[in-house]
Amino acid sequence: MPLPQRPIPIVGGNWKMNTTRATGSDLARAVRASAEAAPGVEVVVFPPFPYLMSVGEILKGGPVALGAQDVSERADGAFTGEVSCAMLRDCGASWVLAGHSERRHVIGESDALVNAKTRAALAAGISVILCVGEKLEQREAGQTNVVNETQIRAGLAGVEPNALSCLVIAYEPVWAIGTGRTASPADAQAAHAHIRKVLASIYSPDHASAIRIQYGGSVTSSNAAELFAQPDVNGGLIGGASLKPVDFGQIIASAKR
Ligand code: PGA
Repeated sequence: MPLPQRPIPIVGGNWKMNTTRATGSDLARAVRASAEAAPGVEVVVFPPFPYLMSVGEILKGGPVALGAQDVSERADGAFTGEVSCAMLRDCGASWVLAGHSERRHVIGESDALVNAKTRAALAAGISVILCVGEKLEQREAGQTNVVNETQIRAGLAGVEPNALSCLVIAYEPVWAIGTGRTASPADAQAAHAHIRKVLASIYSPDHASAIRIQYGGSVTSSNAAELFAQPDVNGGLIGGASLKPVDFGQIIASAKR
């Protein structure tokens, strides 16, 4: 019997509040070249809002998709500083991050808000990377799976199975983000396998095996291959190393099967 096909790996570059218009454009050109050299890996970059249009111009017609780091759950109106799904689409963005730990734990977004953003984006035809992950004290208290399960169930409340082809989960242990500490491949695999079990219980085993689960948290060009080789790891969400064109290119290449 043929082995079931693994979903296409997906690598995201979350630029956070970094780059200028000029350095972002250079980075976008380099990412495009790296992605063109690695067919079979889906690549998406998340520049800061003001550079969506300029980066989008550089990516146009190529294999790299454009994403935004955040979105409002509201459609329009008097919400100073907010950016709507329609505006993102108008700027050419087809992906958005929801529930990134910096928005959960630094800005203070709740599970309910993450869910509202996820549903708004999916309803608008924007694909979502829903980020989940435990803090250090939660890991040390043995709560990793409970925290991930709670964030997944809350984040996906009301999300219908027909929207799942536009959904990716990113498992990003908070203690590993930007710290240089990475989950071991075995720890990442264990968390991913549990997340897939939760997805199977919410939807079905078939849906669960088709949903990509990225690992994120201090992924570098030296540890990416081993992490991506785990059976339930379908690529990565990269912060710091996504700002380094050569490293990010190597990370994309190492996601290739
Ligand atoms: P990092 O960030 O790669 O710098 O740890 C990952 C992320 O925040 O998505």
